[in-house]
Parts: sequence; C-alpha cells; structure tokens
Amino acid sequence: MKQKLSQILFSQGFGTRRLCAGLVWNGEVSVDGEVVEEPDTEFETEGLRFIIHGHEWPCVDKALILLNKPAGYECSQKPKHHPSVMSLLPAPLRERGVQPIGRLDEDTTGLLLLTDDGALIHKLTSPKHHVPKVYEAHCKHPLTATMVEQLLAGVELREPEGKPPGKFQRPPETTRAEGAEIANETLLRLTLIEGKYHQVKRMVAAVGNRVEALHRSRFGALSLPTDLAPGQWRWVEPGEIASG
Ligand code: URA
Repeated sequence: MKQKLSQILFSQGFGTRRLCAGLVWNGEVSVDGEVVEEPDTEFETEGLRFIIHGHEWPCVDKALILLNKPAGYECSQKPKHHPSVMSLLPAPLRERGVQPIGRLDEDTTGLLLLTDDGALIHKLTSPKHHVPKVYEAHCKHPLTATMVEQLLAGVELREPEGKPPGKFQRPPETTRAEGAEIANETLLRLTLIEGKYHQVKRMVAAVGNRVEALHRSRFGALSLPTDLAPGQWRWVEPGEIASG
C-alpha cells in the first residue's frame, strides 16, 4: 500500500501529523539514502525503511520488540518504586502503545517481549496456547531430586508475600512445571506455560527453597541473544515468534 511519508511517520509513532510533516520539511527524514523534503511524497509501506536523526526504522504494521530487561525496572505502565521498562524504549515505540507481553518482577532480568498488537498479547499470554517460558532460578539452598519431582508433579502455591488475607478464603492454586532441571547445585532451569503472579518464586518456595535471583532466557521460540546487553532491545520479525 502506498502512503504519504508524513502519514507513515504518524502511524509509526513520530507524533502528531503536524510534527511528522515538520520532520520531513526540516530535512530530517531520508529514504534509500536520499533526504525527502516533501511530506506528501508517497512510498510503498511494505518493507519500507527510513532514517531519522541517524537511526533506521522499519515501517511495521505492528511493532514487536525483544528487550533484555535489567533488574530495577517495573513492567507496570504506572510504576510505583522503580522506573518503567518503557523508559528503556525510544519515544515512537511508547507513542504507538507498545506494552509488555506478560510481566517480569522488578528484580527479574532477561527476555521481555513488548508489542502494540493486542491479539498477539492475548495469544502469547493465554495458557491455552502453551507457550513455554524458560527461567533460570538461582536458589538459596542446594537443589534436590525431590524438589524437581515435586515441581514436575505439581505444587500448591501459597498467597504471595505481603498480600493481606482476603475476606474469603480462595481455594489453593496448584501448578506444575513443564520442565525442571538442576543446572548446577543451586541453579534451577524451569519451563512454565502459565504466567501466574510471582509464579517461579512461589513454586520454589512451595518446595522449601528460595529464589535469590531470577532470569528469563527463553519465550516460545525466542532465546535471549547473547550479544544484547541488559537494557538493550531489538526488533523481532513476525516469523521469529511463529514457531513458538
Ligand atoms: N516468576 C516469578 O516469580 N517472577 C517473574 O518475574 C517471572 C516469573
């Protein structure tokens, strides 16, 4: 589909139509190595890439981003005690409504996906779709074969720490790991298909151990790239997630 450049920039989160036209008029946008100065110049949007202030942007219908989440950032849109992971992304991604697919705790590190595609968020967070997530849990006490067996068989989750007791007793939540292996004496590799609140920490507590540090290394078909430093992000191509 062909669209005017100012309209394309608007759709990609570069601000109001007026601001987007201004960027073009000011000679700040180039396509195929050439500065475009007329905001109404039309381009085929499929596969289009443009450069603004030295940064290259793909023109995408829906944005899908992989972030290496550092500790000390909250996934909430309205963070309470720490900055939001959104502050690690450039303004156009925030402007177009990108949000985390599921949440990681403030102190959890590793692979976090973000998108503005509501249907994809639903698909990747619904337990029905069985998307495996792999966590590396550094535990306080040595791991035992019994702990692994219990995690695979299913454990009863206690109420999350700090949560005041509700008026009504809720039935205990039980959950099981899809995979659990002892990577070294105190490092547990856990695969889950659900995303309950503090799930890994509560599961590990239920078998008598304690998570001291938590890292997510995989989400569906995607692994955290080794060359992506904490706080850095990259685009994900739609095909990369499909086989998850
Ligand atoms: N389980 C947890 O306990 N915390 C996370 O951040 C993710 C999974």
